[in-house]
Amino acid sequence: MTSEHEAKIGAIPQENLAGGLLEAYIPELGPATRGKVRDIWTVDGDNQTRVMVTTDRLSAFDRIICTIPGKGKILNLLSAFWFDQTRNIIPNHVIGIPHPNVVFARQAQSLPVEFVVRGYMARATTTTSVFYKYETLGKREIYGINFPDGMKPNQVLPMGPILTPTTKADTGHDEEITDEQAQEMVDSKFGDGVWEKAKAASFGLYERMRKVALSRGLIPADTKFEFGIDREGNLLLIDEIGTPDSSRWWLAETYEERLKNGEDPENYDKELIRKWLKSVGFTGDGPVPGIPKDMIDRVARAYAIPYRMLTGLELPDYPPSGPKAISDAVLRYLSK
Ligand SMILES: Nc1ncnc2c1ncn2[C@@H]1O[C@H](COP(=O)(O)OP(=O)(O)OP(=O)(O)O)[C@@H](O)[C@H]1O
Ligand SMILES: [Mg+2]
Repeated sequence: MTSEHEAKIGAIPQENLAGGLLEAYIPELGPATRGKVRDIWTVDGDNQTRVMVTTDRLSAFDRIICTIPGKGKILNLLSAFWFDQTRNIIPNHVIGIPHPNVVFARQAQSLPVEFVVRGYMARATTTTSVFYKYETLGKREIYGINFPDGMKPNQVLPMGPILTPTTKADTGHDEEITDEQAQEMVDSKFGDGVWEKAKAASFGLYERMRKVALSRGLIPADTKFEFGIDREGNLLLIDEIGTPDSSRWWLAETYEERLKNGEDPENYDKELIRKWLKSVGFTGDGPVPGIPKDMIDRVARAYAIPYRMLTGLELPDYPPSGPKAISDAVLRYLSK
Protein backbone atom coordinates (compact mmCIF):
# COMPACT_ATOMS: atom_id res chain seq x y z
CA MET A 1 0.00 0.00 0.00
CA THR A 2 1.33 3.42 -0.82
CA SER A 3 1.92 5.65 2.15
CA GLU A 4 -0.02 8.35 0.34
CA HIS A 5 -3.07 6.08 0.21
CA GLU A 6 -2.50 5.06 3.83
CA ALA A 7 -2.46 8.70 4.89
CA LYS A 8 -5.69 9.34 2.99
CA ILE A 9 -7.46 6.43 4.70
CA GLY A 10 -5.99 7.33 8.09
CA ALA A 11 -7.55 10.79 7.89
CA ILE A 12 -11.09 9.44 7.54
CA PRO A 13 -13.24 9.21 10.70
CA GLN A 14 -13.62 5.52 11.68
CA GLU A 15 -17.43 5.77 11.75
CA ASN A 16 -17.37 6.52 7.99
CA LEU A 17 -15.83 3.14 7.21
CA ALA A 18 -18.18 0.84 9.12
CA GLY A 19 -19.58 -2.10 7.25
CA GLY A 20 -18.25 -1.54 3.73
CA LEU A 21 -15.35 -3.02 1.78
CA LEU A 22 -12.52 -0.54 2.33
CA GLU A 23 -9.69 -2.44 0.66
CA ALA A 24 -8.95 -5.74 -1.01
CA TYR A 25 -5.89 -7.82 -0.12
CA ILE A 26 -4.41 -10.40 -2.47
CA PRO A 27 -0.82 -10.73 -1.28
CA GLU A 28 -0.22 -13.55 -3.80
CA LEU A 29 -0.49 -10.92 -6.55
CA GLY A 30 1.89 -8.46 -4.90
CA PRO A 31 1.10 -4.95 -3.76
CA ALA A 32 -2.09 -3.35 -5.08
CA THR A 33 -2.32 -0.07 -6.89
CA ARG A 34 -5.16 1.71 -5.15
CA GLY A 35 -7.24 4.24 -7.07
CA LYS A 36 -9.92 6.22 -5.39
CA VAL A 37 -12.45 3.43 -5.81
CA ARG A 38 -10.64 0.39 -7.25
CA ASP A 39 -7.76 -1.80 -6.07
CA ILE A 40 -5.77 -3.01 -9.03
CA TRP A 41 -3.24 -5.70 -9.85
CA THR A 42 -1.76 -6.69 -13.18
CA VAL A 43 -1.17 -10.39 -13.74
CA ASP A 44 0.16 -12.76 -16.41
CA GLY A 45 3.81 -12.86 -17.38
CA ASP A 46 3.45 -9.86 -19.62
CA ASN A 47 1.08 -7.93 -17.36
CA GLN A 48 -1.62 -7.81 -20.01
CA THR A 49 -4.44 -8.70 -17.61
CA ARG A 50 -5.76 -6.29 -15.08
CA VAL A 51 -7.52 -7.51 -11.95
CA MET A 52 -9.74 -4.73 -10.67
CA VAL A 53 -11.62 -4.97 -7.39
CA THR A 54 -14.30 -2.33 -7.05
CA THR A 55 -14.38 -1.49 -3.35
CA ASP A 56 -17.14 0.30 -1.43
CA ARG A 57 -15.04 3.48 -1.16
CA LEU A 58 -16.87 6.66 -2.07
CA SER A 59 -14.85 9.59 -3.32
CA ALA A 60 -16.12 13.14 -3.67
CA PHE A 61 -14.22 16.34 -4.36
CA ASP A 62 -11.27 14.04 -5.14
CA ARG A 63 -11.12 12.74 -1.55
CA ILE A 64 -12.12 9.38 -0.10
CA ILE A 65 -15.08 10.14 2.14
CA CYS A 66 -16.51 6.87 3.43
CA THR A 67 -17.55 3.37 2.42
CA ILE A 68 -21.06 2.69 1.15
CA PRO A 69 -21.91 -0.99 1.76
CA GLY A 70 -22.85 -2.66 -1.54
CA LYS A 71 -21.53 0.15 -3.74
CA GLY A 72 -18.62 -1.87 -5.11
CA LYS A 73 -20.70 -4.71 -6.47
CA ILE A 74 -23.32 -2.31 -7.79
CA LEU A 75 -20.66 -0.49 -9.79
CA ASN A 76 -18.99 -3.64 -11.07
CA LEU A 77 -22.21 -5.46 -12.00
CA LEU A 78 -23.88 -2.40 -13.51
CA SER A 79 -20.78 -1.80 -15.64
CA ALA A 80 -20.93 -5.45 -16.70
CA PHE A 81 -24.55 -4.91 -17.73
CA TRP A 82 -23.66 -1.86 -19.85
CA PHE A 83 -20.56 -3.46 -21.36
CA ASP A 84 -22.92 -6.22 -22.55
CA GLN A 85 -25.49 -3.77 -23.88
CA THR A 86 -22.90 -1.83 -25.88
CA ARG A 87 -20.49 -4.45 -27.19
CA ASN A 88 -21.73 -4.03 -30.76
CA ILE A 89 -20.89 -0.31 -30.64
CA ILE A 90 -17.34 -0.78 -29.38
CA PRO A 91 -15.41 -3.70 -27.86
CA ASN A 92 -14.63 -3.41 -24.15
CA HIS A 93 -11.96 -4.60 -21.75
CA VAL A 94 -13.94 -7.31 -19.95
CA ILE A 95 -12.40 -10.80 -19.82
CA GLY A 96 -14.40 -12.24 -16.94
CA ILE A 97 -16.24 -11.46 -13.73
CA PRO A 98 -15.31 -14.09 -11.14
CA HIS A 99 -16.95 -12.26 -8.21
CA PRO A 100 -19.51 -9.41 -7.99
CA ASN A 101 -16.76 -6.99 -6.97
CA VAL A 102 -14.12 -8.19 -9.44
CA VAL A 103 -13.42 -7.82 -13.12
CA PHE A 104 -10.56 -9.37 -15.06
CA ALA A 105 -9.89 -6.87 -17.84
CA ARG A 106 -7.58 -6.45 -20.78
CA GLN A 107 -4.83 -4.03 -19.89
CA ALA A 108 -4.88 -0.97 -22.15
CA GLN A 109 -2.98 2.27 -22.52
CA SER A 110 -5.59 4.80 -21.58
CA LEU A 111 -6.40 7.82 -23.70
CA PRO A 112 -5.42 10.93 -21.71
CA VAL A 113 -8.94 12.38 -21.93
CA GLU A 114 -12.23 11.67 -20.16
CA PHE A 115 -15.07 11.53 -22.67
CA VAL A 116 -18.01 13.22 -20.95
CA VAL A 117 -21.27 13.27 -22.91
CA ARG A 118 -24.07 15.50 -21.68
CA GLY A 119 -27.67 15.48 -22.86
CA TYR A 120 -28.99 17.86 -20.19
CA MET A 121 -27.71 20.85 -18.26
CA ALA A 122 -27.75 19.15 -14.87
CA ARG A 123 -27.66 21.47 -11.89
CA ALA A 124 -24.34 20.43 -10.44
CA THR A 125 -21.72 21.63 -8.02
CA THR A 126 -18.77 20.25 -9.98
CA THR A 127 -16.65 22.94 -11.59
CA THR A 128 -16.34 21.02 -14.88
CA SER A 129 -20.14 20.93 -15.32
CA VAL A 130 -21.80 23.02 -18.02
CA PHE A 131 -24.25 24.29 -15.39
CA TYR A 132 -21.47 25.67 -13.20
CA LYS A 133 -19.82 27.45 -16.11
CA TYR A 134 -23.14 28.71 -17.52
CA GLU A 135 -24.94 29.76 -14.36
CA THR A 136 -22.23 30.42 -11.79
CA LEU A 137 -19.52 31.81 -14.07
CA GLY A 138 -21.99 33.28 -16.59
CA LYS A 139 -20.08 31.89 -19.56
CA ARG A 140 -21.84 31.34 -22.90
CA GLU A 141 -18.99 29.62 -24.73
CA ILE A 142 -18.27 26.41 -22.90
CA TYR A 143 -16.00 23.60 -24.13
CA GLY A 144 -15.83 25.58 -27.38
CA ILE A 145 -19.64 25.30 -27.80
CA ASN A 146 -21.98 28.33 -27.88
CA PHE A 147 -24.96 28.32 -25.53
CA PRO A 148 -28.07 30.52 -25.85
CA ASP A 149 -29.25 32.83 -23.06
CA GLY A 150 -32.21 31.85 -20.91
CA MET A 151 -31.40 28.19 -20.33
CA LYS A 152 -32.99 26.56 -17.29
CA PRO A 153 -31.21 24.21 -14.89
CA ASN A 154 -31.73 20.52 -15.82
CA GLN A 155 -33.26 21.25 -19.23
CA VAL A 156 -32.40 19.15 -22.23
CA LEU A 157 -29.56 20.68 -24.26
CA PRO A 158 -31.08 22.48 -27.28
CA MET A 159 -28.25 21.39 -29.60
CA GLY A 160 -28.57 17.70 -28.64
CA PRO A 161 -25.95 15.68 -26.72
CA ILE A 162 -22.53 17.31 -26.54
CA LEU A 163 -19.07 16.02 -25.75
CA THR A 164 -17.27 17.98 -23.03
CA PRO A 165 -13.81 16.44 -22.74
CA THR A 166 -11.65 16.92 -19.68
CA THR A 167 -8.06 16.07 -18.95
CA LYS A 168 -7.55 12.88 -16.99
CA ALA A 169 -5.49 14.33 -14.17
CA ASP A 170 -3.41 11.91 -12.08
CA THR A 171 -3.72 14.25 -9.15
CA GLY A 172 -5.95 17.25 -8.61
CA HIS A 173 -8.97 18.18 -10.63
CA ASP A 174 -9.94 17.35 -14.19
CA GLU A 175 -9.90 20.39 -16.43
CA GLU A 176 -12.04 21.61 -19.28
CA ILE A 177 -10.47 21.32 -22.73
CA THR A 178 -11.84 22.01 -26.18
CA ASP A 179 -12.47 19.43 -28.84
CA GLU A 180 -9.34 20.56 -30.71
CA GLN A 181 -7.13 20.33 -27.62
CA ALA A 182 -8.47 16.87 -26.84
CA GLN A 183 -7.87 15.73 -30.41
CA GLU A 184 -4.28 16.96 -30.23
CA MET A 185 -3.69 15.21 -26.89
CA VAL A 186 -5.08 11.90 -28.12
CA ASP A 187 -3.85 11.79 -31.70
CA SER A 188 -0.32 13.00 -30.96
CA LYS A 189 0.03 9.98 -28.67
CA PHE A 190 -1.97 7.31 -30.51
CA GLY A 191 -2.15 8.43 -34.13
CA ASP A 192 -4.53 10.30 -36.39
CA GLY A 193 -8.16 9.25 -36.29
CA VAL A 194 -8.18 7.80 -32.78
CA TRP A 195 -9.87 10.87 -31.32
CA GLU A 196 -12.60 10.87 -33.97
CA LYS A 197 -13.22 7.18 -33.45
CA ALA A 198 -13.51 7.49 -29.67
CA LYS A 199 -15.69 10.57 -30.05
CA ALA A 200 -18.08 8.79 -32.41
CA ALA A 201 -18.17 5.82 -30.03
CA SER A 202 -19.01 8.17 -27.14
CA PHE A 203 -22.08 9.55 -28.90
CA GLY A 204 -23.14 6.07 -29.95
CA LEU A 205 -22.72 4.80 -26.39
CA TYR A 206 -24.69 7.67 -24.93
CA GLU A 207 -27.55 7.15 -27.39
CA ARG A 208 -27.67 3.43 -26.57
CA MET A 209 -27.64 4.17 -22.86
CA ARG A 210 -30.41 6.72 -23.25
CA LYS A 211 -32.59 4.36 -25.25
CA VAL A 212 -32.18 1.38 -22.94
CA ALA A 213 -32.49 3.47 -19.78
CA LEU A 214 -35.59 5.34 -20.93
CA SER A 215 -37.37 2.05 -21.52
CA ARG A 216 -36.61 1.28 -17.87
CA GLY A 217 -37.61 4.64 -16.46
CA LEU A 218 -34.29 6.43 -16.12
CA ILE A 219 -32.55 9.29 -17.90
CA PRO A 220 -28.75 9.49 -18.17
CA ALA A 221 -28.34 13.26 -17.78
CA ASP A 222 -24.65 12.94 -18.48
CA THR A 223 -22.02 10.26 -18.43
CA LYS A 224 -18.30 9.67 -18.65
CA PHE A 225 -16.40 7.15 -20.76
CA GLU A 226 -12.76 6.12 -20.79
CA PHE A 227 -11.02 4.46 -23.69
CA GLY A 228 -7.74 2.66 -24.12
CA ILE A 229 -5.65 1.00 -26.79
CA ASP A 230 -4.78 -2.66 -26.26
CA ARG A 231 -1.58 -4.38 -27.31
CA GLU A 232 -3.01 -5.22 -30.74
CA GLY A 233 -3.87 -1.54 -31.28
CA ASN A 234 -7.63 -1.92 -30.80
CA LEU A 235 -9.63 0.93 -29.33
CA LEU A 236 -11.44 -0.43 -26.24
CA LEU A 237 -13.99 0.92 -23.82
CA ILE A 238 -12.34 0.57 -20.40
CA ASP A 239 -12.87 1.44 -16.73
CA GLU A 240 -16.60 1.56 -15.91
CA ILE A 241 -19.78 2.51 -17.74
CA GLY A 242 -23.22 3.69 -16.71
CA THR A 243 -22.68 3.53 -12.96
CA PRO A 244 -23.91 6.15 -10.50
CA ASP A 245 -20.25 7.22 -10.14
CA SER A 246 -19.82 7.91 -13.84
CA SER A 247 -23.37 8.94 -14.79
CA ARG A 248 -26.09 11.16 -13.42
CA TRP A 249 -29.25 9.05 -13.34
CA TRP A 250 -32.63 10.77 -13.15
CA LEU A 251 -36.10 9.32 -12.67
CA ALA A 252 -37.93 9.79 -16.00
CA GLU A 253 -41.45 9.60 -14.55
CA THR A 254 -41.24 12.83 -12.56
CA TYR A 255 -38.67 14.69 -14.68
CA GLU A 256 -41.04 16.95 -16.69
CA GLU A 257 -43.23 17.83 -13.73
CA ARG A 258 -40.29 18.74 -11.54
CA LEU A 259 -38.63 20.71 -14.32
CA LYS A 260 -41.82 22.74 -14.71
CA ASN A 261 -41.87 23.46 -10.97
CA GLY A 262 -38.22 24.45 -10.93
CA GLU A 263 -37.34 21.38 -8.84
CA ASP A 264 -34.33 19.18 -9.44
CA PRO A 265 -35.06 15.71 -10.83
CA GLU A 266 -35.12 12.74 -8.50
CA ASN A 267 -31.54 11.62 -8.89
CA TYR A 268 -29.50 8.57 -7.97
CA ASP A 269 -25.90 9.54 -7.87
CA LYS A 270 -23.16 11.21 -5.88
CA GLU A 271 -24.83 14.61 -5.97
CA LEU A 272 -26.73 13.72 -2.77
CA ILE A 273 -23.56 13.37 -0.73
CA ARG A 274 -21.76 16.20 -2.54
CA LYS A 275 -24.59 18.53 -1.53
CA TRP A 276 -24.55 17.29 2.04
CA LEU A 277 -20.76 17.75 2.27
CA LYS A 278 -21.09 21.27 0.90
CA SER A 279 -23.83 22.05 3.42
CA VAL A 280 -21.40 21.27 6.24
CA GLY A 281 -18.69 23.33 4.58
CA PHE A 282 -16.58 20.54 3.07
CA THR A 283 -15.46 20.97 -0.53
CA GLY A 284 -12.33 18.85 -0.50
CA ASP A 285 -9.94 20.68 1.84
CA GLY A 286 -9.34 19.93 5.50
CA PRO A 287 -10.50 16.93 7.52
CA VAL A 288 -13.23 14.70 6.11
CA PRO A 289 -16.38 15.20 8.22
CA GLY A 290 -18.13 12.30 9.97
CA ILE A 291 -20.99 11.05 7.82
CA PRO A 292 -24.21 10.24 9.73
CA LYS A 293 -25.41 6.64 9.41
CA ASP A 294 -28.66 7.89 7.93
CA MET A 295 -26.77 9.62 5.08
CA ILE A 296 -24.75 6.43 4.39
CA ASP A 297 -28.03 4.47 4.17
CA ARG A 298 -29.59 7.03 1.86
CA VAL A 299 -26.59 6.97 -0.46
CA ALA A 300 -26.61 3.15 -0.43
CA ARG A 301 -30.26 3.22 -1.53
CA ALA A 302 -29.49 5.83 -4.19
CA TYR A 303 -26.85 3.51 -5.68
CA ALA A 304 -29.09 0.42 -5.51
CA ILE A 305 -32.09 1.94 -7.30
CA PRO A 306 -30.54 2.40 -10.78
CA TYR A 307 -28.96 -1.06 -10.50
CA ARG A 308 -32.39 -2.60 -9.92
CA MET A 309 -34.24 -0.48 -12.45
CA LEU A 310 -31.70 -0.92 -15.24
CA THR A 311 -30.85 -4.60 -14.85
CA GLY A 312 -34.23 -5.71 -13.51
CA LEU A 313 -32.30 -7.77 -10.96
CA GLU A 314 -31.90 -7.78 -7.21
CA LEU A 315 -28.38 -7.25 -5.95
CA PRO A 316 -26.89 -10.66 -5.12
CA ASP A 317 -25.97 -11.02 -1.43
CA TYR A 318 -23.86 -14.08 -2.09
CA PRO A 319 -20.89 -14.42 -2.28
CA PRO A 320 -20.03 -11.88 0.42
CA SER A 321 -17.98 -8.80 -0.46
CA GLY A 322 -15.30 -9.40 2.19
CA PRO A 323 -11.57 -9.38 1.40
CA LYS A 324 -11.30 -13.17 1.93
CA ALA A 325 -14.13 -14.13 -0.43
CA ILE A 326 -12.74 -11.75 -3.03
CA SER A 327 -9.20 -13.03 -2.76
CA ASP A 328 -10.44 -16.65 -2.95
CA ALA A 329 -12.48 -15.95 -6.08
CA VAL A 330 -9.59 -14.19 -7.81
CA LEU A 331 -7.08 -16.94 -7.03
CA ARG A 332 -9.53 -19.67 -8.07
CA TYR A 333 -10.15 -17.93 -11.40
CA LEU A 334 -6.41 -17.49 -11.97
CA SER A 335 -5.70 -21.15 -11.34
CA LYS A 336 -8.18 -22.26 -14.01
N1 LIG B 1 -8.55 -1.80 -19.04
C1 LIG B 1 -7.88 -0.82 -18.46
N2 LIG B 1 -6.58 -0.58 -18.80
C2 LIG B 1 -5.88 0.39 -18.20
N3 LIG B 1 -6.37 1.22 -17.25
C3 LIG B 1 -7.65 1.04 -16.86
C4 LIG B 1 -8.46 0.02 -17.44
N4 LIG B 1 -9.68 0.09 -16.88
C5 LIG B 1 -9.64 1.08 -15.98
N5 LIG B 1 -8.42 1.67 -15.94
C6 LIG B 1 -7.96 2.73 -15.01
O1 LIG B 1 -8.01 2.16 -13.71
C7 LIG B 1 -8.31 3.14 -12.73
C8 LIG B 1 -9.53 2.69 -11.96
O2 LIG B 1 -9.39 3.03 -10.63
P1 LIG B 1 -10.35 4.04 -9.90
O3 LIG B 1 -11.69 4.05 -10.51
O4 LIG B 1 -10.23 3.77 -8.45
O5 LIG B 1 -9.57 5.35 -10.25
P2 LIG B 1 -10.12 6.84 -10.17
O6 LIG B 1 -10.49 7.21 -8.83
O7 LIG B 1 -11.16 6.98 -11.22
O8 LIG B 1 -8.86 7.66 -10.60
P3 LIG B 1 -7.39 7.50 -10.09
O9 LIG B 1 -6.79 6.33 -10.83
O10 LIG B 1 -6.78 8.81 -10.46
O11 LIG B 1 -7.41 7.27 -8.59
C9 LIG B 1 -8.55 4.43 -13.51
O12 LIG B 1 -7.36 5.20 -13.47
C10 LIG B 1 -8.84 3.94 -14.93
O13 LIG B 1 -8.49 4.88 -15.91
MG1 LIG C 1 -12.71 5.82 -11.66
